[in-house]
Formats: sequence, structure tokens, C-alpha cells
Amino acid sequence: KYWTMERLDRLYKDWDPKVLTDLKAKIAKSNWRLGYHIQTETGLLNDPNGFSYFNNQWHLFFQAFPYGGVHGLKSWTHMVSDDLVNWENTNKPMVPDRYYDRHGCYSGSAINVDDKLFLMYTGNVFEDDDEYRRHPYQDGAWMDKDNNIEKLSEPLIDNAPAAITGHFRDPQILKHGDYYYAILGAQNIDNEGEILTYRSKHVDKGWEFYKVMDLGHDNLGYMAECPNLGFVDGKVVLIFCPQGADDTKFSYDNVHPNAYITADDFDWENMKLINPSAMHQVDEGFDFYATQLFNAPDGRLLESAWIGLPDTKYLSDNEGWEGALTMVRELHIKDGRLIQTPVKENDSLIGEKDNVENGMQLDKQSLIKFDVEDGKDNEMLINSDDSYLKLSFDKDSHKLNLTRKNIGEDAESRNVLLGSSRLQDCAIYFDNTVFEIYINDGQRTMTGTFFHDGKHLNLKFNNLDNVSVNKLSNIGIN
Ligand code: FRU
Repeated sequence: KYWTMERLDRLYKDWDPKVLTDLKAKIAKSNWRLGYHIQTETGLLNDPNGFSYFNNQWHLFFQAFPYGGVHGLKSWTHMVSDDLVNWENTNKPMVPDRYYDRHGCYSGSAINVDDKLFLMYTGNVFEDDDEYRRHPYQDGAWMDKDNNIEKLSEPLIDNAPAAITGHFRDPQILKHGDYYYAILGAQNIDNEGEILTYRSKHVDKGWEFYKVMDLGHDNLGYMAECPNLGFVDGKVVLIFCPQGADDTKFSYDNVHPNAYITADDFDWENMKLINPSAMHQVDEGFDFYATQLFNAPDGRLLESAWIGLPDTKYLSDNEGWEGALTMVRELHIKDGRLIQTPVKENDSLIGEKDNVENGMQLDKQSLIKFDVEDGKDNEMLINSDDSYLKLSFDKDSHKLNLTRKNIGEDAESRNVLLGSSRLQDCAIYFDNTVFEIYINDGQRTMTGTFFHDGKHLNLKFNNLDNVSVNKLSNIGIN
């Protein structure tokens, strides 16, 4: 009842700045804030947007609603970094301020053009009729070297093709040959997810519908959000969020999945994945969504994702904040599967080695590494009074189980089926209330939130080999 439509839709200029000051004071008392993950100063964070390298800096934006831990009117918060680890807020967000993005500057991407950065995003608009129908516009903006953003006065794309509903958003912009291409998530009038492609010879005008992407799969649920193509190791990966995908054909446990398909090549003429793999989950943890890919000028394929899910409440909402971005990960493709590891720049966070003892107290920012030699059941537990995170591996079924019990909530589990009874090069990046687990040097990952009593954390383990624990820096990004 607190979040009336009027509050959710209020323009940023109409908010009393005192709301932010009060939220900051409240959040300053939190025991749950993060040490080295991108989080919001106040309010809600969701998708990463506009990941790019421009003017000798990394740029990463995220979907934000600064006025509370709810999905209100979305803007783009703008972060910059010299090293992909230490991020700073430019305090020059892109906020909804015109008809064509009246109900939110939704997700999108960025591309360097001459000496500027071009942003393409979805302007979410609910029409002023009885049905409050969605009419998304695909909008453009230029950003200069002082990080000033100037929106184009007219949308790049006014209307979706006739067979598409109001669910049409999240453009990824790419350059290939003579054309700029935009890859967009959509829903057709038969209530099926589709990925559409548009193209133009000019980045800021002349956009035309080109083709429906041919993935070689039809299990795209009722809406495919946040599609992204990436290129590495001579292969291709498509990452997207097929909401409502049939989980008997592609298994996932979260409310909405984030999926990938690898392919040998991409046929730009026909917008087709050549020799596509099966569909897999990008991450098999509790909270992971809306991955954005970036083929960086240094040749790496990089990834950032939202540690959170749509249509989900988080315990920190009560404190007036929610959501984080993953550490930036580097991607490779091996045997048709994605390999994900934190970019090497993250090593700068690694501090002093702790004395490893069973039951030891764990710092809020810690890196735990371990292996499991052949043929042992084992487990690891991070716990506080009424909460725990438990990882256990069954040597016979090769099943890795992660159980989480957040304070005041019931326990829940996620499972990863591995191909052998051995685990090698496993790492848990623990950051107070979020964690990222990398199994077998990044062959599989499990990411999520973990809300504990905030006072003490203990680490217990059984039958693990080569356990090491290092402190990680608390650089407090927001
Ligand atoms: C995915 C998403 C996008 C949309 C954005 C709005 O989480 O729903 O499809 O552009 O979030 O914040």
C-alpha cells in the first residue's frame, strides 16, 4: 500500500531529495552491504546495461530505481573503472524525462562510434488508455567524453512488427560489415518468445526490421528478455532469458532462467546460429539474471550479470536497497560449454591468507578455494545463528548440492550434475550477503544472495582437499 502507482511512476525531478538522504542514513546501519560487488547507493539495482570501453575507461551502467527496494521507474546508473574492479559512480545517470521513455529507461547497450559512445535502450511507455497498454520505443542517446548523455529527440524504432506484442525490448547493438545490428527480445501474438534483429547503415537513424533470429531451438517460453551475442575462441554464444521456457526440455529452478546456446558460427545474412548446442543455464545458483556480454577491444569476451531475479522479494528490500552485479567474468567456450572465471584484475582484491581451521570465523569478504580428490563425499558449511549456506557433493551420483537458509526463511536447494567424482579448482567468492561459486575452474557457476544474522560467520568443512582462505578487500562500491 506504500508503493502507490503515483509513487512508482513519479518522475525523478518530482521526488523530494530528502527521501534519498533518509534512505542513505538507514542503509548506513545495514550489516548486509557488500565489499567488492557493484551495489546501489540506495534503492534497487537490476540488469547491467551499456557495458563498453570508451575514452580509456570501462563503462558499465545498471538498471536502477533509487527511491526504494522496489521495481519503480527505471533509470541507468553510470559506473566507470580503470580496472574492471574499482568502480566509481559518475553521478550522471540517464533518467526517464520525456514521452518516449516516460515509464522507464529500460535495458540496452552501447557502442563506440567515432569519438562518442552511442547508447540504445528501450523506452518503456504505458499508453494513456484504459488498458494501460505497453508501447515500447527503442531509443538512442549520445554520450561524450565528459560522460554527458544527450538523448535523440525521436525514437530509433517506433513500433514493433505487427505480430509482436508490447513486450519488445533490450537491444544489443553490434557492428558487422556495413551495418549496425540490434538484437531484441520479444513476444509474439501467439505468446511465444522470439529474438528479433534490426539493422541500419547509420547508428542513429534508418533502423529497419531485418529477421527473426534462428536459434535452432523453439523453447523460448513466452518472452525472451535480454538477448546477447558474444564471440570467442572461434565460436559464438547467445545468452538470453527465456521466461516461461518448458523446464522438462531445459531444466532450471529459478522463477526465470538465464540460458545460453553456443554455436560454431553465426550466419549474419540469415541471422542464424550454425550448429547450435543444447540450451544450458548460464549459472546454476539462486539469483542470476540478465547477463550482458561485451566483446572488449582487448579481445576478451566479458560478462556482467544481475545477482537477483525479477518478481522476487529480497530481505534487504526492508532496508531500502536490493541487488548487485556479479564480478566481471571472462568467458571461454570449450566443448560447446561456457567457461566463466572472474577477470584476472580481481586478483588485486586478494589479501592476507587466513589460518585454515575447521569452524574458523570467516571474514565478510573472503575467498575460499578447495579441491576434492577422487571418491569422497564431502561438504562445506558457512553458517551464522539462524542461517547457512551448505555445499555438499555426492561422489556416487556426482551431484553437487547447494542449500541456502536465509534468516527467517525456509531452506532451499539447487543442484549441479557434474561428470566426475572429482572437483578441481573450486573457488567461493564470498561478499557478506552475495556469493559466487566457481566449480572446476569455471565450468559451472552458482551465484546468489545469502542473508544471515550479520554478526558472525563460521566456516566448517569435511573431506575437502587443499582448502585455503584469503581475505578479500572491502572497497565498498556504490
Ligand atoms: C530484465 C528486464 C528487462 C527490462 C528491464 C527493466 O530484468 O525486465 O527486460 O528492460 O528489466 O528494468
